[in-house]
Amino acid sequence: MGQQSPPDRSDWWRDAAIYQVYPRSFADGDGDGTGDLAGVRSRLPYLAELGVDAVWFNPWYPSPMADGGYDVADYRGVDPLFGTLAEAELLIAEALELGIRTVVDVVPNHVSDQHPWFRAALAAGPGSPERELFHFKEGRGEHGEIPPNDWVSEFGGCPWTRIEDGSWYLHLFATQQPDLNWAHPLVRSEHEEILRFWFDRGAAGVRIDSAALLAKDPALPDFVKGTDPHPYTDREELHAIYRSWRAIADEYPGTRILVGEVWLPDAERFARYLRPDELHTAFNFDFLARPWDAAALRESIDSTLALHAPVGAPATWVLCNHDVTRTVTRYGRRDTRFDFAAKRWGTPTDLALGLRRARAAALLSLALPGAVYLYQGEELGLPEVENLPLDRLQDPMHFRSGGTDPGRDGCRVPLPWSGDRPPYGFSQDSTAEAWLPQPADWAPLTVAAQSADPESMLTLYREALRLRRTEAALHGDKFEWLSTVGEVLAFRRGDLLCVVNFGAEPVLLPEHRTLLLASGPLAGPAQLPTDTAVWLRVA
Ligand code: GLC
Repeated sequence: MGQQSPPDRSDWWRDAAIYQVYPRSFADGDGDGTGDLAGVRSRLPYLAELGVDAVWFNPWYPSPMADGGYDVADYRGVDPLFGTLAEAELLIAEALELGIRTVVDVVPNHVSDQHPWFRAALAAGPGSPERELFHFKEGRGEHGEIPPNDWVSEFGGCPWTRIEDGSWYLHLFATQQPDLNWAHPLVRSEHEEILRFWFDRGAAGVRIDSAALLAKDPALPDFVKGTDPHPYTDREELHAIYRSWRAIADEYPGTRILVGEVWLPDAERFARYLRPDELHTAFNFDFLARPWDAAALRESIDSTLALHAPVGAPATWVLCNHDVTRTVTRYGRRDTRFDFAAKRWGTPTDLALGLRRARAAALLSLALPGAVYLYQGEELGLPEVENLPLDRLQDPMHFRSGGTDPGRDGCRVPLPWSGDRPPYGFSQDSTAEAWLPQPADWAPLTVAAQSADPESMLTLYREALRLRRTEAALHGDKFEWLSTVGEVLAFRRGDLLCVVNFGAEPVLLPEHRTLLLASGPLAGPAQLPTDTAVWLRVA
């Protein structure tokens, strides 16, 4: 049943379960085929029943949607596609009444090319103060026809676009996302005001997009492999920015949190963002990037806990988000190695295998000390939609790769709520066509179908989140590995054990214990089968 109002715990974020809502694809309240805030408001009881502590919303701001809303034209509003600012305020308040805090997404690295600052910069011409808010530069070559440096866009291709007057501007992502110049004081003060704007409206936190990319080497030099600091990643200047943001968050009552999207392969550099006067937490992409393999996941858990401990920050555990292949599909691949640079996994195979592993992974990640992030649809075991019609794809990553990368639309397909055919209750209007087509075989995956099924993924998540809340052993930092043989991970937190079998053969569970939850049927009373996890209470 629904939760009570959130306990006034200043450390709520240290072990929170935070649910990620991609507003375009969660629920469509006005029947136009695109999700919206009315849809989210109508489904708040679902989130309360699921048992999450907070919701992080992907951007809902006015945007031309060149990158799913990460091209923001106005940081203080709501896109008409999603609703109004007044509705966002209502949503934040209504969610809180059900015990759910709200985390908004801020996108400081770049703006939309329709943002008033960029339009003014284009109009004002070369050398103007308006252009100093961005990175405008002359090109190289006799006629300035060669881009100013050799960087490569995070979405592939050249991150420079030349405009009519011959100058180039920098965009680490799509052409429509010009990068801001973070050396400019106005860029800093504007974002401090944006933070206050949302904290004043009750936001309990902000998720910081591309948090390690904002600052650039002012000379914008070519990238020489191995140079330190990298000309646009993880630069020292960032820490002063986040210290000033932390000071603002700390001015507000009830603990407002800063969560960084920090993709850095170097664990120690990553941890520097989590020092006590900087960000509260950051997404643990290392864990998400590991294959379904006992040794690899154990190593990730160990290094995660070891690097967070000295800075006193809780770990976060993330299995998927709106940028990566859905867990069921990823773990259903025989080759589950992750290509960090491309943010992609190996070849597709068996969804039944993927689902079994995703269920076990849910119990593994929900039992670890720290906060967890759940991406909408993860609790339904949705697979990646890999056969979207090409003419419906929207992701700039797909287009910028010249069509070689499928892009991220496959994990952004609207949720199935009920019924036996699209739009599966996603839209108020049952004849509406969702902005991305839903597969014809999703009827068994709807919330309605799974709610009635004690064996469903949804039932597993609901039960695991309930136990995570009520079992004292799952709060705090206690964590201890148990020695095991073979491909098995087992750890103890107080009187609770989590055991996961990654091996091909069943393993014997310990005696004198009570079974609290299993990700799949046991093979006999004490036998844990392959790709299965259990939570046990021991004396
Ligand atoms: C982040 C977002 C991603 C977006 C990019 C540019 O990585 O998660 O969806 O495309 O930043 O804003």
